[in-house]
Amino acid sequence: MKFKVKHQNSSVTIKNDKLPGNSSLHIDAITDNIIRIHTVPGIEDYKSHSFAIENMPETPGSFNISSNKHAITAATNCVTLKIKKSLQIDIYNKKGSLVCSDIEDNTNIADNLSEEEITQLIQEGHIADTSDMQFKYKITKKLTGNEVFYGLGDKTGFLDKKGYNYIMWNSDNPDPHVENPTFRALYKSVPFFIVHRPNCTYGIFLDNTYKSYFDFGCSDAGSYSFAVTDGELDYYFIYGQSIKEVIRNYTSLTGRSPLPQLWTLGYHQSRWSYSSANEVTELADSFKKYNIPCDAIHLDIDYMDKYKVFTSSSGRFPSLNSLSNKLLQDGIKLVSIIDPGVKAEDGYYMYDEGINNNYFATTEDGEIYHNAVWPGDSVFPAFTSSQVRQWWGEKTNFLINNGIAGIWNDMNEPASFNGPLPDNIIFPGDNKNYTHKEIHNVYGHLMAEATYNGLKENSHKRPFVITRACYSGSQKYTTVWTGDNQSIWAHLKLAIPQMLNLGMSGLPFCGVDIGGFGSNTTPELLSRWIEACCFSPLFRNHSAKMTRRQEPWTFNKSTLDIYRKYVKLHYKFIPYLYDLCYEESLTGIPMLRPLVMEYENDKNVQTCNDEYLVGNSILVAPVTSPGVSVRSVYLPKGIWVDYNSGKRIKGGRYILYHAPLDVCPIFIKGGSILPTYPDIPNLDMKNTRRLVIEFYPSEYSQDPSQCTNNSCYYMHYQDNGTDFKYQTGEYNLYKFSFSPNRPGGLKTELTRNGYKEKYKSISAVTR
Ligand code: GLC
Repeated sequence: MKFKVKHQNSSVTIKNDKLPGNSSLHIDAITDNIIRIHTVPGIEDYKSHSFAIENMPETPGSFNISSNKHAITAATNCVTLKIKKSLQIDIYNKKGSLVCSDIEDNTNIADNLSEEEITQLIQEGHIADTSDMQFKYKITKKLTGNEVFYGLGDKTGFLDKKGYNYIMWNSDNPDPHVENPTFRALYKSVPFFIVHRPNCTYGIFLDNTYKSYFDFGCSDAGSYSFAVTDGELDYYFIYGQSIKEVIRNYTSLTGRSPLPQLWTLGYHQSRWSYSSANEVTELADSFKKYNIPCDAIHLDIDYMDKYKVFTSSSGRFPSLNSLSNKLLQDGIKLVSIIDPGVKAEDGYYMYDEGINNNYFATTEDGEIYHNAVWPGDSVFPAFTSSQVRQWWGEKTNFLINNGIAGIWNDMNEPASFNGPLPDNIIFPGDNKNYTHKEIHNVYGHLMAEATYNGLKENSHKRPFVITRACYSGSQKYTTVWTGDNQSIWAHLKLAIPQMLNLGMSGLPFCGVDIGGFGSNTTPELLSRWIEACCFSPLFRNHSAKMTRRQEPWTFNKSTLDIYRKYVKLHYKFIPYLYDLCYEESLTGIPMLRPLVMEYENDKNVQTCNDEYLVGNSILVAPVTSPGVSVRSVYLPKGIWVDYNSGKRIKGGRYILYHAPLDVCPIFIKGGSILPTYPDIPNLDMKNTRRLVIEFYPSEYSQDPSQCTNNSCYYMHYQDNGTDFKYQTGEYNLYKFSFSPNRPGGLKTELTRNGYKEKYKSISAVTR
């Protein structure tokens, strides 16, 4: 067998006759913890391109290389790779333990059926997807049996993905999103996952935008695999001492969620559609009337003129600008939807400009490609071109000038009503023409980039973008929501693993449609939903046309009271949530965390689907089943303060918790110090000038001098919550600690003093 090896300081290149054509396999030490394994076709001047990674880390790791006649060994300071002649790679840690090893693929994906049998299956309505067998590259790795799998964005199913298989192909399918087999693909493609077993954690990021397949011990309990249908094999092995370190390393490559505007953490109300200015004004008034904090109202597609993007209906919204100004007086912002499909209509400026400048996707013969979306006959901007992204970004001016504060990108898989876009549709790029097959999974990502940059250049504020479709790395530009869920209990349960896996996939600013989008919610379901999502970063109630109204006051008094209670709870803790955003922007560690992220060696939490942590101080264990008022809660070791009763509870065990409909089980880690707001109607800056620091000693006492653990401290971040001045130092850092010898207990130190609008008051409460 041919096996030719070349190596330099940080890279090994191998040629062997297993590789197609004249390709070679490259193994690069990106850092000592991040190893890139990729094929390079034997094409002159071939340059690989990543849509996810904009800047490679500046300090490449380096290899220590040795070889014998069976294998070549390449070691960094953290990991050692043994590359065999068959191209199988074993990876060891510093202690010499095997972390991950390739095996020859022996999986049998499905029964070997005859064509007749497959036809019969399809006739009865079964799924017979034979495309799974057509891979260009497939990597199969050994399972020891103890692994759990996290990540892959917001796929269906549970926190642990072991035993399931998934597809990356951004898909808009409004049927109820359930576990396999129907929903192996959803709207997003985030081909990154974390493998965790006792004392061993690593991640794999498969940077390939074509349709790809992931099988986590589904077809063979002894192995897992990932495979691409086209393009190059290009994956990163990402090592870390912990789940957090793997996420930190992954986001050092693909980028981190930047600090948001403060108001975006507030409550958002949406419906498909609030379709007149009057309806929106009445809605805003209702929030005041019912004393429910609100920061944003979303305008769905009916605010537009015939669904034409970057227009508004002059009949129903005679002046968007005066509407937004009016709402702003009550501290409420408008967010509007924008879809990528441009109505094909002569005389419509977006269509004319796009046609004149060749901005739209074409067929192979160069004809503009048409399909149908909400506006009917539509064409699709080629976001692959930087000129098109610039053009689209400039159009955000139409919305900014009308007072719109954020943009919600939808249907950007791209969705289409007249069948899927064929694989060979051409999207011109800067240096090459891309086929739809290659860029389908990054279409939403590129649209988000265009929107983010447009909003940034034109508004000078931190852009607020929401997207339905995205790819790895989209966190630099956008927040995400999980698309069209339904008002069913199964989807309330699904919300927790979806948000947790999004966070572990680098997309921490996420949310689901609270109450459920499709079908009719019930008072009980809505109440449990607002409780379960009460710390959700994207905190939005949204519902579909033809479903019952879902605003909190359209049910009964007790539903309204429960809803208000949990929206207010969310607002109370926004200073803490904002601190977690600050942490995310520096480390990539998400705000919402599965328990396993903080208690890695606790076996009881590795597959915990129905509890989550907010930072490391708050544990939420919502009720997600109907008719249930008692649930078991697992509390990891330590002392936990029952937020509802103040009782101290010893962890490291399961407890039974009584949670009638108005109670969400919430626990605060003993010893926590948490910054909170007093009761405020919204996040208008004038309402955020007072802070209340809550201290939760492990042992209860009103007098901090009586508390045993009072040596801890908490760092709090403060800035103007709006623009980029923090990047030039306009922010404050406060250090809060409680001391037994001080009256009131609180000690406040300003450890960084860059923002002049200090709090008007900082008070303390011991809870
Ligand atoms: C899609 C979106 C949904 C939106 C609707 C109309 O179904 O996922 O959120 O309301 O389109 O724009």
